[in-house]
Amino acid sequence: MIRSVFKGCGSALPANCVSNDELAKRVDTSDEWIRERTGITQRYIAGEGETTATLATEAARRALEDAGMTIGEIDLIVLATATPDVTFPATATIVQKELGGAGFPAFDVAAVCSGFLYALGTADSMIRSGMSKNALVIGAETMSRILDWEDRATCVLFGDGAGAFVISAEDLPDDSDKGVLATQLHADGEHKDLLYVDGGPSSTGTVGHLRMRGREVFRHAVTNLAQVLSDVIEKAGFTATQVDWVVPHQANLRILDATARKLGLPMDKVVVTVDKHANTSAASVPLAFDVAWRDGRIKRGDLVLLEAMGGGFTWGASLLRV
Ligand code: ACO
Repeated sequence: MIRSVFKGCGSALPANCVSNDELAKRVDTSDEWIRERTGITQRYIAGEGETTATLATEAARRALEDAGMTIGEIDLIVLATATPDVTFPATATIVQKELGGAGFPAFDVAAVCSGFLYALGTADSMIRSGMSKNALVIGAETMSRILDWEDRATCVLFGDGAGAFVISAEDLPDDSDKGVLATQLHADGEHKDLLYVDGGPSSTGTVGHLRMRGREVFRHAVTNLAQVLSDVIEKAGFTATQVDWVVPHQANLRILDATARKLGLPMDKVVVTVDKHANTSAASVPLAFDVAWRDGRIKRGDLVLLEAMGGGFTWGASLLRV
């Protein structure tokens, strides 16, 4: 049985770290308000010369190094982003060139904050079908470029960054529980007005700004995530108590808390980086995973649950034996 197995990961952040106090000098807000409502204390903001592609390339390089592989062995790049460098070509092709690769498929997927789950699901399907052997799966964003810095209800919540996985085909015995065990993805366009960007090449000809009705998003996030998490664990034939680590999309500490509680999982099994990175959209899951992988919390053999929910709405989860 061919399955996708995790080979390594990497991440990258912009050089400029902006604390809540620094932000409060530009925006009518306070460290106390942001910390209490979201758990965020700081975020990284891309500066001149830093783009989604540069961050993605750096994260991908680190993932290749961690996997002990070179770009010459990679035959697929799937990159999730809502903030591409340009409308086209896909940011994945820029990363491919920067890494020194050519010829093999490289494309972007757009599912906003759930993008990494969609990218992982796509790459995993291509590996299991025999189309690809070694894939770079990347989530990368420069959300700061689409924030309305006059809107304090949204601009304090987001940050920039990138994370990447290398996953590879491995022929495993039928009873093996290694690799990507189950993935579940969902979308529902009904609530698009709760979280969206008010511009784009085909509608306004502008880039637009992120708009969000935070309270409603919060309610939908907790309900959808709790459901997809139970579904994916059951689909893979496990129970929640067997999960070693949950690596959630880092939107808001209160969403992470409420979701963990619904599943009956203690918070000490949940990887939290929202305090340091804020919400980095498609980058947040691989970024958080990379932090916990490098500090030794996530180890080989661990059962890890990845999850995310974002604009669309889109949401999804994946269960992985590292
Ligand atoms: N600083 C100070 N005051 C603020 C700020 C700010 N940055 N932003 C809003 N306020 C004020 C509002 O003006 C309002 O004031 P009022 O009562 O005088 O009118 C008050 O704070 C409460 O505003 P709400 O929007 O109702 O605040 P709420 O308690 O809902 O918290 C928040 C807002 C943090 C956005 C919350 O709704 C939330 O966490 N939602 C989840 C959304 C999310 O995380 N989205 C991320 C993208 S989607 C995803 O990734 C899942």
